[in-house]
Amino acid sequence: MGPRKPWVGGNWKCNGTKASIEALCETLNKAEFNPEQIDVVIAPVSLHIHMVKEKLKAGFKVCTQNVSKTGMGAYTGEIAVDHIKDFGLEWTLIGHSERRQYYGETDEVVADKVDICQKAGLCTAVCIGEMLDERKAGKTTDVVKKQIEAFIPKVTDWSKIMIAYEPVWAIGTGVVATPEQAQETHAAIRKILKEKVSAEVAESTRIAYGGSVSDSNCNTLIGLEDVDGFLVGGASLKPAFLDIIKSAL
Ligand code: G3P
Repeated sequence: MGPRKPWVGGNWKCNGTKASIEALCETLNKAEFNPEQIDVVIAPVSLHIHMVKEKLKAGFKVCTQNVSKTGMGAYTGEIAVDHIKDFGLEWTLIGHSERRQYYGETDEVVADKVDICQKAGLCTAVCIGEMLDERKAGKTTDVVKKQIEAFIPKVTDWSKIMIAYEPVWAIGTGVVATPEQAQETHAAIRKILKEKVSAEVAESTRIAYGGSVSDSNCNTLIGLEDVDGFLVGGASLKPAFLDIIKSAL
């Protein structure tokens, strides 16, 4: 882990019931951390956000899993950035591979969403990552470079950007990136930021790893120079998430 403030996110995806959330929040409230020293961000299903916000102790940050390209108005079913801000939330996820895969979110759509979040002053975890065939073809850096270059022009405040590198082939598969793969790609992302933005932005921007993070691999991964935290799926729904948070303290 580098000199940057660690960031650990739990992406609950489309999971949870009132009963399971009640129990999970009780477990998560056992976590001991100083929010001045680490960002712990929980992204529930939108319908559950109010409940989670009420049940989690101070220090946790609650996050949406998406944001609409449009603002408030006649856009049935959308999540406007103004509503997110009005609700007192600081974070949103953008460009998760599942939204890119299932809902056609292109690099351009992601860039538009970064733009709307920047204009609203909302902190954004922007998800990038390659497919297995792209990794096997040695195209990982090309892929993440294209994904990053798409939203760079929209960013005026890099302090509100966190990049989550999530190799798609590691998401939900139990096949976590090796430390060498993770460090190599995180370093490549930082190099892209240095070349395309500035050395200062490259040094200060946090890059979290996501993809089969668990309590058994987090300590190795967090020890890598360019890994500043995690974006966790499955394990964030379990008590193991407490150990993952602890690994980043
Ligand atoms: O956004 C995090 C998620 O995509 C990773 O999922 O289950 O592999 O930790 P998982």
